[in-house]
Amino acid sequence: MRVPAIELIALTKCFGNSDEPAVKSVDLSVAQGEVLAIVGGSGSGKTTTLKMINRLIEPTSGSVKVMGEDVTNVDPVGLRRSIGYAFQGVGLFPHMTVGQNVGVTLQLLGWTKESIVERVSELLAMVDLPAPEYRDRLPSELSGGQQQRVGFARALASSPQAILMDEPFGALDPITRDALQQEFRSLQKKLELSVVLVTHDMSEAVLLADRIAVMHKGELAQVASPRVLLTSPINEYVAQLIDTPRRHSDFIESLLHGSVAGGEP
Ligand SMILES: Nc1ncnc2c1ncn2[C@@H]1O[C@H](COP(=O)(O)OP(=O)(O)O)[C@@H](O)[C@H]1O
Ligand SMILES: [Mg+2]
Repeated sequence: MRVPAIELIALTKCFGNSDEPAVKSVDLSVAQGEVLAIVGGSGSGKTTTLKMINRLIEPTSGSVKVMGEDVTNVDPVGLRRSIGYAFQGVGLFPHMTVGQNVGVTLQLLGWTKESIVERVSELLAMVDLPAPEYRDRLPSELSGGQQQRVGFARALASSPQAILMDEPFGALDPITRDALQQEFRSLQKKLELSVVLVTHDMSEAVLLADRIAVMHKGELAQVASPRVLLTSPINEYVAQLIDTPRRHSDFIESLLHGSVAGGEP
C-alpha cells in the first residue's frame, strides 16, 4: 500500500490559556491523489488544523507526517516546497507583478533567473493566463478570478505533491467560482495532487472532495465519502450540514419534474 500523502495523529492545539483546545486529538489521513475536504462552522478549528500541516502553527501535541515523514524533522522551507498553500483573498504581493508573485517561492529556493522565467510561463499557461499577456501586470489589474488563478499557479510553482487550500473559492462570484472549481478538479486529476480543502460550504465539499471530514468544536465528527455522509450521517450536526446540498438538489430535481409550483416566471 502507498504511504498516505498526509497523516495527522492525535493532533491537538491549545491557544494561550484557553480551556477548550481549538483542535482536539484529530486523526486523519489523506491518500496520494485524494481530495479531502474539511468542513465545519466558523471557529470549528479548520484553519488551525490546516496550518499545523505546513507548520505555520506548531501543534501542542500529536504529530503530522507528510509522505511518511514527521514534519518536525523537515526544515520548514523544504516542507513548504513539498506542500503548496492557497487561501481566500489569495495574498498576492500587490507591488509585485504576476510573474514575480508566481516565482517568489522559486526565488527563495535559489532557482536561476532563466529557469524561473521558464517555469512561470509554464505555470501561467496551466492556469490559462498566457505569460505574454499577464506576466507583467500587477494583481490590481486582474479580476478576482484571475487573481485566484495566480494564487494557484504560485501554490503549484515548485511541483508540490500536496496542496493545502483554505476557502480558496470563498470570495468569488458564483459563475467564476463554478468555472474555477471545475478547472481545479481537472488540474488536480491531471497532476494527481493530494489536496486538503478547507471550506464552510458543504455543497462545495460534496462537489469537489473524494472524502469529507466534518469538524465540530475542534473535533472530528465524521470522515466519509460524500455518498456515505448523505446516506448515513453519524449525528444531528452532520445531518444538518449535509441537508443543505440535499435540499437544493431535491428542489431542482422536483422543479425539473414539475412537482413544484414555484420557480415559474
Ligand atoms: N492565533 C490564535 N490565537 C488564539 N486563538 C486562536 C488563534 N487562531 C485561532 N484561534 C481560535 O481557535 C478556534 C479555531 O479557529 P480556526 O481554526 O481559525 O477556525 P475555522 O477556520 O474553522 O473558522 C477559534 O475559537 C479561534 O478563535
Ligand atoms: Mg478558517
